[in-house]
Formats: sequence, structure tokens, C-alpha cells
Amino acid sequence: MKTIGMAMSFGILGSYDLLGDGRPWIAIQDPACTSKTFPKFFQALEALRTKFVAVAVDGGAASGKSSTAKVVAHELGLLHVDTGAHYRAVTRALLDAGARAEDIASVLPALAHLRLGSEISGISSVVTLDGHRPVDASLRSEDVNAAVSKFAALPAVRNFLLAYQRSQVALGQAAGFAGVIMEGRDIGSVVLPQAEVRVFLQADPVARAQRRAAEGQTDAVAQRDLLDSTRATAPLVCPEGATRIDNTHLPLVAVVAQVKALVQSVARPA
Ligand code: CDP
Repeated sequence: MKTIGMAMSFGILGSYDLLGDGRPWIAIQDPACTSKTFPKFFQALEALRTKFVAVAVDGGAASGKSSTAKVVAHELGLLHVDTGAHYRAVTRALLDAGARAEDIASVLPALAHLRLGSEISGISSVVTLDGHRPVDASLRSEDVNAAVSKFAALPAVRNFLLAYQRSQVALGQAAGFAGVIMEGRDIGSVVLPQAEVRVFLQADPVARAQRRAAEGQTDAVAQRDLLDSTRATAPLVCPEGATRIDNTHLPLVAVVAQVKALVQSVARPA
């Protein structure tokens, strides 16, 4: 009787987000011990937990996606997935292999050799190439900035990444996150069209170019936007039903508060 009471009490206690990261911090080794007194105790408890939420954040270059998604992920215990980093990592590897976006015959064999993986680092899922994490600066270099949208326009490259990106949801669930927040250009429209929350961030092009310059990067933001929004496969669009947030004059905290409110409105008990 004592063991049952303790298992139930700790089960309830374990539902509290003690570490503030939405992840489990306690494990009941023998949940079957409640089978006589309250056979469905842990199922009942599970039903009270908030449901796993998928959040899609789309927008143009330097529209504030990463900053917003990271803070929301941190505050709500979601797994943060930056799909732009996936395109950048693949671009880095293709450039290093000597492939050119204009020559599909050079892209396909290089793509076939690529092995993608994921590493969870804090709240973020980080892409690995052949088991290694690419250095951040190598993904934001001038040559990658100039080539990424050209490679990202190729259906072969997009198909290569689609299953990988969708698998991030299961990764977040398995790792005990409360949901996933994925940022990119086609998340609400193609990658996770079932996402419960869809947000489209936008900002004045001049403000966006200034943000990149302030980060010390050489990046033709407007040119990338043009390529991204005019390509035939999975172009940059505001997905149907998405909440548009123009953050040209909005501080990050205000954008975060809006996105959090949207997430909390759908994260009710399952
Ligand atoms: O951080 P920034 O807004 O500059 O761009 P990013 O999110 O790192 O994405 C880099 C590039 O990857 C974009 O310009 C797109 O060409 C491509 N991309 C895409 O096509 N689809 C996505 N879901 C994410 C990025």
C-alpha cells in the first residue's frame, strides 16, 4: 500500500515542470504497482498532461525567426529546430565537394554521400554531417550566404531534407519536450502543414538588412528573399491560417509574448 501511495504521489509530483524545461525529471520504475488499487492511474495522469504542440515559424531572411523561436522554445520547453541551418549545412557540404547548383549532375552524387544526424544541445536540435557538427561560422560564411538559396531551390535538395526535418517531431517527443518549434520558409506550408500554431514573421527589408550588417555578415537579404519566394518548389509563403507578425518596430519580448499566447491557447490537455 505504501509503495502504491508513493508511486502515485511521485507520479503527480513528476507532472510538475521542476526544471522549467518541459522535460521529465522523475521516473517511476514499477508503474504496474498501482494495478490493483487504481489500474488506470498513469493513463489518467497522462491525459492531464498538456499535449505535444508543433509550432511553425516562417519568414524571410533576418525576419527574427531564430531569436523568437529560441526564446519561445526556452520558455515553453519546446525543441527548437532551425531548418535554415539544415540548408546551410547541406550547402556547405556541397560546396566543399565542388558541386554547383547550376549543374545538377554535380549535386546528385555529392548529396548521395551525405549522412545527416541530429544532436540535442540544450533546447536545440543541431544537424550533424557524417557524425560531426559543422562549425557555426562555416554555415554563415559569405560563400554559403551566396549559394544557399540556389541549392535550396533544387527539388532534389528539398526532398533530401524533407523526411529529416519531419523526423524532428518524433525526436522532440522521444526526448520529452513539450513540443517542437521549427523555423524556416516552408514549415507551415510543406514540412509541418498540420502544425497547430503557424506564425509568419515579417519586417521592413531595410531593417532586416541592417540587422544582418549589425551581425557583421555579408548577406544579400533581399536577393535571397527574391529567390526563395519565386522558386517553383516550396517557395517562401505566408501559410494559410498563419498569424502575421510585423516586427519592424516591435521588441523581441513583444513578439515572443504573442507567439507564446498562441501556443498556450492550443496546448490544452489532450
Ligand atoms: O537566418 P536567415 O533568415 O538568413 O536564413 P536561414 O533561415 O538560415 O535560411 C537560409 C536559406 O535556406 C534561405 O534563404 C532559404 O534559401 C533556405 N531555406 C529554405 O529554402 N527553406 C527552409 N525551410 C529554410 C531555409
